[in-house]
Amino acid sequence: MGLIGMWRGRRPAAKPPLPMRLDARNLALAAKGFLSEEDGTRLYELAYAASELGPCVEIGGYCGKSALFLGEGCRARGRHRLFSVDHHNGSEEQQPGEEYFDAELYNAAGGRVDTFPHFMANIRKAGLEEWVFPIVGRSSLIAADWSRDSNLGMVFIDGGHSKESVEADYRGWSRLIVPGGWLCFHDIYPNPADGGQAPYEVFEAARATGRWRFEGLFGSLGVLRRR
Ligand SMILES: C[S@@+](CC[C@H](N)C(=O)[O-])C[C@H]1O[C@@H](n2cnc3c(N)ncnc32)[C@H](O)[C@@H]1O
Repeated sequence: MGLIGMWRGRRPAAKPPLPMRLDARNLALAAKGFLSEEDGTRLYELAYAASELGPCVEIGGYCGKSALFLGEGCRARGRHRLFSVDHHNGSEEQQPGEEYFDAELYNAAGGRVDTFPHFMANIRKAGLEEWVFPIVGRSSLIAADWSRDSNLGMVFIDGGHSKESVEADYRGWSRLIVPGGWLCFHDIYPNPADGGQAPYEVFEAARATGRWRFEGLFGSLGVLRRR
């Protein structure tokens, strides 16, 4: 067993005093998306802790599943909010003919995938419009205009899953995290038989810099904390 396997199960600091609101949790579980209940619960707890330090950012909003868990963590804490970055036209594997294409998310008039209406509908249903703010566009371009004094409490990376995309998201956003803030990656699979390796490789490269403390692997969520 590698180091990652031995670290499973540690909880983030400042666990929320209350579990997630049941109606928001049910909405999150019912939303289209790629997050397990375990991953979602951990995101809720992390956002609760991290949003005390500064705003939270997620890359990859899709239909709002992770944003509901993260935004609800921010709401429960009552300090900073979530910014959810996505161009809302789907990743490579979500395009027509690809493995994760969903015809319900295809806007025939526009001739492309459009997840934005689904994202907003879920945020509104959960009453989180004042806690979750979408930023629609390409992640690397948006990151370039955020300055270091953005002082982010947390960044959750779940956008494009090619090596190039994950690296760009890591480079563009991790530099904005305050000391003590969290950097989380989705789809971390130490065993190649379980899934694509790009997020895992970037996650390991981040660890190797020595700038991050390894907090654990929870489901497929890899969690680092800035030293
Ligand atoms: C795996 S999905 C995110 C799933 C979501 N976090 C959830 O919980 O269901 C990846 C999302 O990243 C977005 N995406 C991919 N590459 C992107 C980029 N370069 N900039 C912005 N968004 C991107 C896609 O549009 C897609 O909605």
